[in-house]
Amino acid sequence: MKTRLTTLFDLSVPIALAPMALAAGGALAAACARAGALGLVGGGYGDLDWTQREYELALRMADTAANRSRIGCGFITWKLDEDASALDWVLDQPAPDKPRALMLSFGDPRPYAARVAAAGVPLVCQVQRMEQVPQAIEAGARVIVAQAAEAGGHGMNSLQGRATMTFVPELADWLATHAPDTLLLAAGGIADGRTLAAALVLGADGALVGSRLWATRECLATQGAKDQAVQTNGDGTARSAVFDILRRKNWPAPYDFRAIRNDLHQQWEGRVEALRADPAAARARYNAAVKAGDFSAAHATVGEAAGLINDCPPAAEVIERIGRQADDRLARLSR
Ligand SMILES: Cc1cc2nc3c(=O)[nH]c(=O)nc-3n(C[C@H](O)[C@H](O)[C@H](O)COP(=O)(O)O)c2cc1C
Repeated sequence: MKTRLTTLFDLSVPIALAPMALAAGGALAAACARAGALGLVGGGYGDLDWTQREYELALRMADTAANRSRIGCGFITWKLDEDASALDWVLDQPAPDKPRALMLSFGDPRPYAARVAAAGVPLVCQVQRMEQVPQAIEAGARVIVAQAAEAGGHGMNSLQGRATMTFVPELADWLATHAPDTLLLAAGGIADGRTLAAALVLGADGALVGSRLWATRECLATQGAKDQAVQTNGDGTARSAVFDILRRKNWPAPYDFRAIRNDLHQQWEGRVEALRADPAAARARYNAAVKAGDFSAAHATVGEAAGLINDCPPAAEVIERIGRQADDRLARLSR
């Protein structure tokens, strides 16, 4: 399957691994690169040691020069405002080890644009609303990711978040007029051949896949969390600030977090401000549950795509399956 994304990054399938904080480590990024996708290491909150270790592991495990050239990295932009040493480290890597792409999400990418451009690395910017797109273009984004509200993990809150079905074609139209050389990826709910084919039909050049590649053998999430995702259908996730409050993650207001709507979440979801005001008891329960691997209170980060996730195979199998099924779907529709 050939799209502008596969051409730009020399991929065999129009899929990029989402740079999932603490989950998309070196082994998962390398597995995706070896399977012909773009493997973005989840630099997340910008921890320098973690990023160095996992990025170097990705390069080692990618095996060949061609696979290594499909390894990139991603960061949470507002966190870089506090400490950008991991971004600087990855951009400073010498030529063959430089990231193939650098992805920024959740915040204004413009303060980092000059550093990324100076390193000669294509910038990927994830946005959640149309109003964020001009900023990303001004930052020099080579690729824009349209992240819709179905997505697992952080994203725009439910009041302001968009849906893949309308956001992707609207953004495709905007780019066709204002920035025709900028590529577009869809993110949120893309987990099988049908959903990848749909993203392409909506006008995307490919998909950024999080949840489906999170539920794989190489992902660093715990097996208990992955098992819970396999058993949960698409009704079983919700967006809120509950787990951010419990984890002391200081996310800026417009963003919240989609994960499995477990017992502890249900207990607090209607009383988020009360939780914020007095989180001690709930935090104690949450921390004990994380230690014990009890997912009635510990969180499992997966989006609405949970309903399309029925197993936890190696990442290469997931990528091969999605690519083959998307090809079949598109061929069948064109007949
Ligand atoms: C476990 C998990 C962690 C995530 N962490 C990050 C992150 O650190 N940075 C980021 O830009 N996006 C992150 N995301 C969001 C993804 O970039 C992407 O938008 C989302 O996974 C796409 O939707 P999907 O989960 O339905 O595939 C995360 C998603 C998941 C599931």
